Amino acid sequence: MKSNYRKSAKNLLGSLFLILASSHFVHSETNSSTNNVNSDEFTNAAGKQPFSHAIKMSDEEFDQYILGRSFFTIPWVEAPSATTARDGLGPHFSSNTCVSCHINNGSAATISSDNQPLRSLVFKLTQPSKQSSRWLINNIDTPMHENVPDPVYGAQVSIRGNGKVKPEAQTRLNMELISFTYPDGQSLLLTKFIPYLDQLAYGPLAKDTVISLRQPPILAGLRLIEQVPEKEILAWEDPSDSNDDGISGRANWLNSPDQDEKILGRLNWKASAPNIVAQTANAAAHDLGLTNPHFPEELCQPAQTDCLAAPKGDDTRLGHLDLPMLRLQAIASFIRDHKAPQTITLDNKANQGKKLFETVGCASCHRPTLTTSEGIEFQPYSDLLLHDMGDELQDGRPEFLATEREFRTAPLWGVGARVRAHQRFLHDARAKTPEEAILWHGGEAEMAKSKFIKLDQEQRLALLHFLEQL
Ligand code: HEC
Ligand code: HEC
Repeated sequence: MKSNYRKSAKNLLGSLFLILASSHFVHSETNSSTNNVNSDEFTNAAGKQPFSHAIKMSDEEFDQYILGRSFFTIPWVEAPSATTARDGLGPHFSSNTCVSCHINNGSAATISSDNQPLRSLVFKLTQPSKQSSRWLINNIDTPMHENVPDPVYGAQVSIRGNGKVKPEAQTRLNMELISFTYPDGQSLLLTKFIPYLDQLAYGPLAKDTVISLRQPPILAGLRLIEQVPEKEILAWEDPSDSNDDGISGRANWLNSPDQDEKILGRLNWKASAPNIVAQTANAAAHDLGLTNPHFPEELCQPAQTDCLAAPKGDDTRLGHLDLPMLRLQAIASFIRDHKAPQTITLDNKANQGKKLFETVGCASCHRPTLTTSEGIEFQPYSDLLLHDMGDELQDGRPEFLATEREFRTAPLWGVGARVRAHQRFLHDARAKTPEEAILWHGGEAEMAKSKFIKLDQEQRLALLHFLEQL
């Protein structure tokens, strides 16, 4: 036992050392506070790991950052364990660290070379909502969707289990190929995934349960997204399309109508999380199986007796939680302290592409500039609002006010680095390139897409070249 403990402590030190050695933080020598972050501090983020550049920090913030980084990076282990600071993984989980899906604060690969899902492609489960409450939003009577999970497998499929606990299922994809031809004759093959489950441990899914895919977004610049005043975001809403451009855009409001306070959704593909702390708690519970102040109970479903009977984390811990509030906040600080992706200086072709991006109507949703409450302007290329993206992208999963067809405008910052890393695009990772992502746009984006399609090839390439500078 003793030697085991020594071994794991040594491994722990080994990993800590590795993490320190590969870090990209900027530690301010002075005690200057980031309360006055100025825009210079968000520059110079280029290089091999474009999303892991930290902002300047005070000593106190730096301590939080280091602590948060260790909980984000070092693998969690199952309970009980000698390393009680990091036990509590599972019983069901998808991965034992955050970093395996958000590698270097970017997103990990989602699809294998034989077109099967890797662990970072999350399978969410939803039952058609039997009833929805209603909310008066902008004087419109609006349905609010309460997500109904699968009765046996819950809200998300866990592909791993601790010890004797069975993984819930193996995630699988079927693929459909669709050929697309531009008016000028150029053609390409688009891919669409149809998810299914294999080796289900507790019998079949309920008949009407829908599987929806989600790939991990990059985790850079999120401090800025958190700091945009609500009114700046809401000013772009046009729920009844009063300017008649075919684009409405509305905020996602989280919370139920019987709670007084409405909370604006800002993060995730459907703006289903209000801030980094809330999404960290959500990820800790659903992706790693860590109990925390937002999710104090293990997410074992009633029929999963092996999961219910599995050993829990150390009960003597603060609040009996695997991830108590201070640690949750440290992880959130670590995420918050990363710089936004930086635009590369635009050459002539990129400038031409930028103009086309505006004239065909991409910028109506991919809003180039937002401003924080401290007056910092930044370029996320998103309005952070929900848009109906048509039948092809609909995913059977409403989240709060967002319908099956609605998604938050995906920020385009970081697209260039993602292209260079051969990452995939759209919520379900179906697009191999930004071009394919555009061709899947529909609904409110139908008009912009058809204008893009009608551009000549040189113009299309200029627009795509512009996206690669972001
Ligand atoms: C199994 C893969 C996986 C793991 C592990 C994982 N995430 Fe994620 N993460 C995702 C996916 C998928 C999304 C998008 C979810 C959605 O849109 O509903 C996401 C979204 C996020 C976001 C919102 C980003 C944005 O810009 O909208 C944050 C923040 C985040 N994760 C933090 C974490 C933290 C912290 C951990 C560890 C506690 C973690 N994640 C572990 C897959 C993962
Ligand atoms: C009506 C609003 C709207 C318009 C107009 C629009 N988009 Fe989008 N865009 C979105 C939304 C919403 C998503 C996320 C959809 C999804 O994941 O299913 C998205 C996703 C993308 C992505 C993939 C990003 C990622 O992280 O995977 C790219 C690239 C993109 N859009 C480029 C463009 C370009 C170029 C145009 C103009 C031709 C355009 N969009 C027009 C709303 C819009």
